[in-house]
Amino acid sequence: MMSLRWVCLILGVLGVTLMAAQNQQQEPTLRHAAEARGKLIGFAMARGAVRKGEKAYLDTAAREFNVIVAENSMKFGLVCPKARGVYDFNDADAIVEFAHTNGMKVRGHALLWHNQQPKWLAEDEWTKQEMTDIVGENITTMLGRYKGKVYAWDVVNEAISDSNDANDVYRKTNYYDAIGSEYIDLAFKLARGADPNAKLFYNDYGCDFGGIKFEKMFNMVKGMKERGIPIDGVGFQMHLGFYAEGQSAKMVECFRRLKELGLEVQITELDVAIELPCDGTKLQKQAEIYRQIVEAACKESNCTAILLWGFTDKHSWIPGFSQGKNGCALLFDENYKPKPAYSAVLDALKDK
Ligand code: G3I
Repeated sequence: MMSLRWVCLILGVLGVTLMAAQNQQQEPTLRHAAEARGKLIGFAMARGAVRKGEKAYLDTAAREFNVIVAENSMKFGLVCPKARGVYDFNDADAIVEFAHTNGMKVRGHALLWHNQQPKWLAEDEWTKQEMTDIVGENITTMLGRYKGKVYAWDVVNEAISDSNDANDVYRKTNYYDAIGSEYIDLAFKLARGADPNAKLFYNDYGCDFGGIKFEKMFNMVKGMKERGIPIDGVGFQMHLGFYAEGQSAKMVECFRRLKELGLEVQITELDVAIELPCDGTKLQKQAEIYRQIVEAACKESNCTAILLWGFTDKHSWIPGFSQGKNGCALLFDENYKPKPAYSAVLDALKDK
């Protein structure tokens, strides 16, 4: 017969092993911390990494995030490059499939944008009726294909002018030239009709901390709400630099004003660029900016998601765009090692 002492010892060892296994399972990740607060934390997926099946990229993505947006693969010029009505969904489908296999939601980006349009669209002139038909075709095609799979769409992206003139509201794009400013209302109405359950967002940069551009955008979405246009939220891109330190209270003020209109907000493209070369001091400062933004955003009840524009410095638009001047903008370095910014975001996501 086994003595009582032996039974206690075996039970003790089993208990410790079980607790260790549980702790391992509960190793905090960004998505665990966000899920505990009912928030979404996500990133823009680079199609190159998906095509190559880059293991470290895909493993990190699945472990850390619960929402994905395609960095490029759902843009009009990439899904419909060759001719009107001829679509190639390969990259977009692969991203949606990866997300759903890993229990993640998908944001769709972006239905109407002046950039990355198909050549056949950008390089021709269109009448109001023709452009209205083209806009409608793309919206119904995209929302139809991804109905129930893409939970929110950036319906219109970057439609507000960068000018400091408060009366110069709209960016003069081919959509604007052909249809007039009402192309924005039209796009949202068509999107609601194509997928009544999808959340519909207006998305822009340079509105992050208030100012003239924010006021123009605010008045635009206020007008839309007053006219009964089906808009659910506003996306703040937040491509930031060191100037953003200490600015989060201004962001919160913008979020609250939109909440009064009954609108949700999301941070849709967060990154904090560093002027190269990168060093330890700069990485700490970057981490502090990430912490301030994420901590403040999480406390706002109408802020439902925070998406980064990538997560590893191996795949980021910043070095290319700045011609090598800036970089190091994301949470993991080029070898997928978490940077101080990762710990800062994890800490900020935790409910305190
Ligand atoms: O598809 C071509 C490929 O055929 C060609 O071989 C290659 C050679 O350079 O270029 C490829 O196109 C690139 C495209 O991304 C798709 O990968 C373009 O050069 C490149 O300029 C383009 O950059 C994208 C940029 O939008 C376009 O304005 C970035 O990856 C993407 O991160 C960026 O994302 C935007 C958001 O959509 C909206 N908000 C701002 C944000 C940053 O600019």
